Amino acid sequence: MDISLSADSSSSSVTLQYKAAHQAFKDRWKETDDSMCRHSMSFHLQHSLRNDFFASYLYLLEQIPLVKLFPVTCEFIKGEKQFYYRAQQFYEDVQASEEGMMGDFVDISDVDLEGSREFLSRFVGPGKAGGTQCGLDCGSGIGRVTKGVLLPVFEKMEMVDMMEHFLLHAHEEYLGDDADRIETYYCYNLQEFTPPTCKYDLIWMQWVACHLTDKDLMNFLIRCKKSLRPNGIIIIKDNMARKGCKLDAVDSSISRHLDIMRTIIAKAGLEVLATERQEGFPDIIMPVWMIAMKAM
Ligand SMILES: C[S@@+](CC[C@H](N)C(=O)[O-])C[C@H]1O[C@@H](n2cnc3c(N)ncnc32)[C@H](O)[C@@H]1O
Repeated sequence: MDISLSADSSSSSVTLQYKAAHQAFKDRWKETDDSMCRHSMSFHLQHSLRNDFFASYLYLLEQIPLVKLFPVTCEFIKGEKQFYYRAQQFYEDVQASEEGMMGDFVDISDVDLEGSREFLSRFVGPGKAGGTQCGLDCGSGIGRVTKGVLLPVFEKMEMVDMMEHFLLHAHEEYLGDDADRIETYYCYNLQEFTPPTCKYDLIWMQWVACHLTDKDLMNFLIRCKKSLRPNGIIIIKDNMARKGCKLDAVDSSISRHLDIMRTIIAKAGLEVLATERQEGFPDIIMPVWMIAMKAM
């Protein structure tokens, strides 16, 4: 377990207080490892118990859901490679259209875009600190958000998505003449993508944070932070689980409770500026929240 994930300023003194206890446990377990046959069932059982124990122990000690969630998420998704592979397979069969981007809920696209425009106007636009030179739409798909929310505000946009056919459709058809204002299309997985340094006034991530593991999301946010211009902000808009986290095995996405998302954001060294729940969606849909953040 990566204990550094649990070290924020308020909890680090508590962590230090318990360091001796950690060490004692580690030493005890090392001894057991050395004396136990590594191929035996008891060895593997011992390892599982140890991992579970540490997860619960750190959770109780520090009350940080990320520490508890990270091993759980990995268990849940049966390995990161599978998790990402399944999402790739899923989107290969998705049509490059608004229907494809919205799943069964294309009817709520206009309400969604309106909610996003209003939220964005709290930070960017006339009289606001945020600049309007360039934005980045992450997990952009065909550019539904780029077209409906971002291009009316930003002089230039860039888009990143793992599926080439979405980006091609955006450029050749969906964005029309506005495609001229897309500076670059990046065909990348976000977990492997490093955006250019100090370039964007806004980074928008809609319905894609749910496709990254906790650790990859945190690391991607750290890279995004470096690619913001002064006064630049990041906005995540995503499904948030009512409790804990929830895996959707069909599109291979994981929805987290807002508090878990906040913890990941804090770990990435970002400060939350505002959170707002999207209004006007049917009750059967999981709550969708917008979170604006800036570098600390
Ligand atoms: C539900 S669609 C949302 C598209 C767009 N953000 C919108 O709101 O219309 C999710 C998008 O995320 C992309 N995506 C999923 N996992 C990704 C990953 N690991 N890296 C980059 N893009 C990813 C998919 O290809 C798809 O275009």
